[in-house]
Amino acid sequence: MKMSGNAVVAGIIGWPISHSRSPLIHGHWIEKHKIDGTYVPLAVHPDAAADAIRSLPKLGIAGINVTVPHKLTAFDVVDERDAASQAIGAINTIVVSPEGSLLGSNTDAPGFFAHLRATVPEWDPQAGPVVVLGAGGSARAAIHSLLEAGVKEIRLVNRTKSKAEIIASNFGDKIKVISWSERASSLAESNLLVNTTSLGMKGAHPLEIHLDDLPKEAVVYDIVYVPLETNLLAAAKHRGNKVVDGLGMLLHQAVPGFHAWFGTKPAVDSELRQLILDDLK
Ligand code: ATR
Repeated sequence: MKMSGNAVVAGIIGWPISHSRSPLIHGHWIEKHKIDGTYVPLAVHPDAAADAIRSLPKLGIAGINVTVPHKLTAFDVVDERDAASQAIGAINTIVVSPEGSLLGSNTDAPGFFAHLRATVPEWDPQAGPVVVLGAGGSARAAIHSLLEAGVKEIRLVNRTKSKAEIIASNFGDKIKVISWSERASSLAESNLLVNTTSLGMKGAHPLEIHLDDLPKEAVVYDIVYVPLETNLLAAAKHRGNKVVDGLGMLLHQAVPGFHAWFGTKPAVDSELRQLILDDLK
């Protein structure tokens, strides 16, 4: 669609940025909804990131997504932060208000949960403990959304135990820290297993975990999406567990930003999934 002089401009800031699928996702929605707007990739060096973010109102940009390595810088620079970003300590979405202030949020947390809900609507947050593997930013996003949803116990398993302990001290006593060597036995009586580590991703080491203790009713969610069916998900499916892949989190996290900047709430549907899957090939 041809843009007018009033076109809404949004984008994504990162370094590097060429790997990001966000321009494809937002570009698809802009076309689909015939929006007078654009979404651009912005490669900004870490030394310039804070100034670039502060300049958004002067440039007339409606807002941006923020990706690696600028999520912490964004957290420091914005004027306001939503509850999820405060709990997680990182910002991935900024909306410029009509007055020119920067409103920061973290949509990885609602994105994580929206995809779980969309894939397994009957999953009950209160039906048992959740096991989370990993203690990076994605683990924090998952933990925030799971606690908000009413999960009563999260068994947090990470190779570097001290990182899990910091998360436990931030999020409170519903977080039980478990050693990496105990990961298989931590699955007993659990209701959901979430992998937020990079293990199992194309080019990374495999995730080695025995699922024998995992109840058959438990759901297995891997946030890795290359490959889409990780070894973890294949093994879980084989023994009869329901599975949730990582692609939907990427798609769902994009919804709130698009809605705020362009004024239309877009859908995460099979057409969009296929578009991104084709691009990942
Ligand atoms: P993100 O912000 O996307 O969550 P991250 O902060 O790099 O990414 O976190 C990656 C996670 O994968 C970490 O929990 C990391 O464990 P450490 O905290 O011990 O580094 C985990 N991870 C990466 N490689 C691993 C490996 N070989 N074995 C176990 N865990 C690993």
